[in-house]
Amino acid sequence: MRKQIAAANWKMNLTLQQGEQLLEDIISLPHQLNENQEAVFAVPAPYLMMAQQKLRGKEYLSVAAQNCYSKKSGAYTGEISVDMLSSIGVYYVVLGHSERREYFNESNSFLADKINICLLNNITPIFCCGEPLEIREAGTQNEYVAKQLQESLYHLNADQLLKIVIAYEPIWAIGTGKTASSAQAQEMHAAIRKQLESKYGKETAECISILYGGSVKGSNAAEIFVQPDVDGGLVGGASLVAEEFVAIMNALKK
Ligand code: 13P
Repeated sequence: MRKQIAAANWKMNLTLQQGEQLLEDIISLPHQLNENQEAVFAVPAPYLMMAQQKLRGKEYLSVAAQNCYSKKSGAYTGEISVDMLSSIGVYYVVLGHSERREYFNESNSFLADKINICLLNNITPIFCCGEPLEIREAGTQNEYVAKQLQESLYHLNADQLLKIVIAYEPIWAIGTGKTASSAQAQEMHAAIRKQLESKYGKETAECISILYGGSVKGSNAAEIFVQPDVDGGLVGGASLVAEEFVAIMNALKK
């Protein structure tokens, strides 16, 4: 069975003290993750080590960075390298979030470079894709997402692809309170898996975890996660509230 993942994306929110408190609250609330499930916390870069320390030794709880750069090292002021992440024991990074694509002009080919350096350094990318509202309204969302996957991932071989987690986040559902229906989520996740199957074969496609993101909350997580091709969620706003995020963790498929 594919790994089921509840990933928290704190984005640019919380002070250090608030972040510490949130992690402590989450740890202290009852949650039941098993060896096939994981909760991943994508915290702001200055809090990565704090989060690592808080979660050390806690089963099935991991830390992720929200971004990294495509170069190994050098004169790139303000950027974070994969070596920096692995040197503090961080092995997940969110890549290609729609906010980075929109505000920082990250293109599919730039993201392909970031994917490559992550894989070379044993860091698992959580690769985000998803369409804006006008594409959804035009009904061309499958083609749009297919192009994102083709241009950022299709240079990989099957073994490399198996190290990637995909997060489908329709932009019109992010931070809007407007969730894709569970049927819309399932439809797109199945389309992504079919597309991966046509390139990499069924066996590989069946092993890739595909998370849904966009206004996931404690109250709607279970109906979305129960869909056969949805393997958990990437959560913004609701990941900042301990009870909400723990409810989301507990809604993962068993
Ligand atoms: P919201 O859960 O706030 O809609 O954000 C989703 C998201 O962008 C997670 O990466």
